[in-house]
Amino acid sequence: MKNIFTLCLLMLAGFLNAQTVQSPSKEITVTFKLTANGQPSYSVNYQNKPVIKESLLGIALKDTEALDTGFEITNTQNKSVAESWKPVLGEQSVIQNKYNETIFSLVQKTTGRKLNIVFKVYNEGVAFRYEFPKQDKLNYFIISDEKTEFNLTGNHKTFWIPGDYDSQEYVYNETKLSEIDNDKLNLNNGIAVKSIGGRYVVQSPLMMKSADGLYLNIFEAAVVNYPVMHLDVTTTNYKIKSHLVPNAIGDKAYLQTPAVSPWRTIMVSNDARAIVSSKMILNLNEPSKIDDTSWIKPMKYVGVWWEMHVGVSTWDLSGTQDASQKSVGKKPHGATTENTKRYIDFAAKHGFDGVLVEGWNVGWEDWFGNWKEEVFDFTTPYPDFNIQEISDYAKSKNVKMIMHHETSGSVANYERRLDRALNVMKKYGYPAVKTGYVGRIIPRGEFHDGQSMVNHFNYVPQRAAEYKIMVNSHESSRPTGVSRTWPNYIAAEAARGNEFNGWSNGNPPTHETILPFTRLLGGPMDYTPGVFEIKMSHYDPSKTEQVHTTLAKQLALYVTMYSPLQMACDLPENYEKYADAFQFIKDVAADWDESKYLEAEPGDYLTVARKAKGSENWFVGAITDENPRNTTILLDFLTPGKKYKAIIYQDGKTAHWEKNPINYEIKTIDVASKSKLKLTMAAGGGTAISIFPVK
Ligand code: NOJ
Ligand code: CA
Repeated sequence: MKNIFTLCLLMLAGFLNAQTVQSPSKEITVTFKLTANGQPSYSVNYQNKPVIKESLLGIALKDTEALDTGFEITNTQNKSVAESWKPVLGEQSVIQNKYNETIFSLVQKTTGRKLNIVFKVYNEGVAFRYEFPKQDKLNYFIISDEKTEFNLTGNHKTFWIPGDYDSQEYVYNETKLSEIDNDKLNLNNGIAVKSIGGRYVVQSPLMMKSADGLYLNIFEAAVVNYPVMHLDVTTTNYKIKSHLVPNAIGDKAYLQTPAVSPWRTIMVSNDARAIVSSKMILNLNEPSKIDDTSWIKPMKYVGVWWEMHVGVSTWDLSGTQDASQKSVGKKPHGATTENTKRYIDFAAKHGFDGVLVEGWNVGWEDWFGNWKEEVFDFTTPYPDFNIQEISDYAKSKNVKMIMHHETSGSVANYERRLDRALNVMKKYGYPAVKTGYVGRIIPRGEFHDGQSMVNHFNYVPQRAAEYKIMVNSHESSRPTGVSRTWPNYIAAEAARGNEFNGWSNGNPPTHETILPFTRLLGGPMDYTPGVFEIKMSHYDPSKTEQVHTTLAKQLALYVTMYSPLQMACDLPENYEKYADAFQFIKDVAADWDESKYLEAEPGDYLTVARKAKGSENWFVGAITDENPRNTTILLDFLTPGKKYKAIIYQDGKTAHWEKNPINYEIKTIDVASKSKLKLTMAAGGGTAISIFPVK
């Protein structure tokens, strides 16, 4: 009897200190409270159904008492925000930022230390973060663990890649939460984290779907001066805990008050389109820190690049290495003055903004997997790459050159040389750089996803902004909306790109239907679509590798994979060969006024229509996974009363990503806002549509 009485009292106390924050739509409710021992906790309901059960919050510190239990709430501050802002480049020209916010100010009774937990609740999800206010009792501190929990309500379908502190370049696994098992994967890339004490480490964003049709996504925003958050999943009870990436000596983050953690985000909706179209991650980042952004421009580019990946030419001068640094016998060097001019001519002829050249600088003979600190100097061209002549030629053709800085993971070396490298770019008029971080990080022991590397990836665009240079990083930690703050950070790879199709078992047809729900939530991806010669046997009859899509789907990716930096990655001769299909890549825009996600299902399909910035042209991309798909879309996004011409690039009758990938059809029809279009997609296929107003 006495026990029941105590229990009732405890429940009452819990109920009394529970406070709620709701989304503007009132569909999402967050309940925040302190547990009986004073530990902050939260839970989330969507349409009155629990989606996150009571989950604990807290931070463990090195050498001192944790910031977890013994707290009391000293103040609660609410605010509602509804504002809008204009991204420099984006999927839409105006972004709404609408949420309800509550700041819970806490004090730890035993130590007197202060901690705030801030919630922002949007219509499509919840965000919260830890704030460490300036205080004498907590000045400089070391985070040894973050104890944030996300306790799920069921055995959801999950799209996951294994935890790996150095890479996200994995194929997604689609399993129940209970079936997550990194140890079973045959991992050949990097050093994936094995199970730890019955828990499996996976990466975020973690996209899920519940049995009753709710879409859930756990991610983070504004990762600045903090390590990347992976997730520990206990597969027996669907409990998830944050897993911060350590540094060389096992510490997670070094902070000094005032400081904040990144935002932890939980998106939830019964409509998958609400997740892919959400701008919550961008909204949670700071506004642009660049005042004059006039030099930040969308770019479509070609490059001396794919020809190396498919083994036609090489990065190094001796002509002996392919993409995986295997010896390939003698092949020509790709980055010669003559070959670069050929690409410049091609870009000029077909209206591309830029040309990327890899293998232009000395160092490629021995750059990979060797722990060499000084591989590249980023300033010395190979003797057969006449940088002055090339930049003069590009200028005369109104084509911009894109620099390549492969660091081979030697970040110490790159930071030392960064200003000199940027000065060379300035001197020769290169407005954009593609950086690369292949291999293990030097200084040794650091990981791509640790705090110091996160700082590096944020530092390079800041530094580059001083030179009015745009940045596209490969092998960086994945972006978390930072392009709002540094809009010259126009793209990143940070997932498994199209290139894997050239020299590995590739990306299965489902891959591109998952990325918009995961990697792309954090910002634009340099996926490098546009492969027309789908099968690598084209280059070498003994090769079995191939792109796992039809040609038409490669076109659709220019619309479904948002990026203001888009490569037409195939070789000029392959585009000349399929010139009618190439027309779509020439026409498609890379910066948009509006984006309408018409259909979406993670792992299955995606259809999006986008209006080109400052124009009445629309482009539609529809993709499917390994299953053929028929659908009908309404063109009601078009201006009523206006006439348009639609050019439809679709899979041919016998198209199939594996059996007949290059089979496509192009037709032109008249359309208007009342039109309905039937789309027919092959297995691994897609449809791309250009819609132009008729004068
Ligand atoms: C990996 C990058 O993703 C790829 O685009 C580049 O060509 C190679 N590294 C060489 O830097
Ligand atoms: Ca890569």
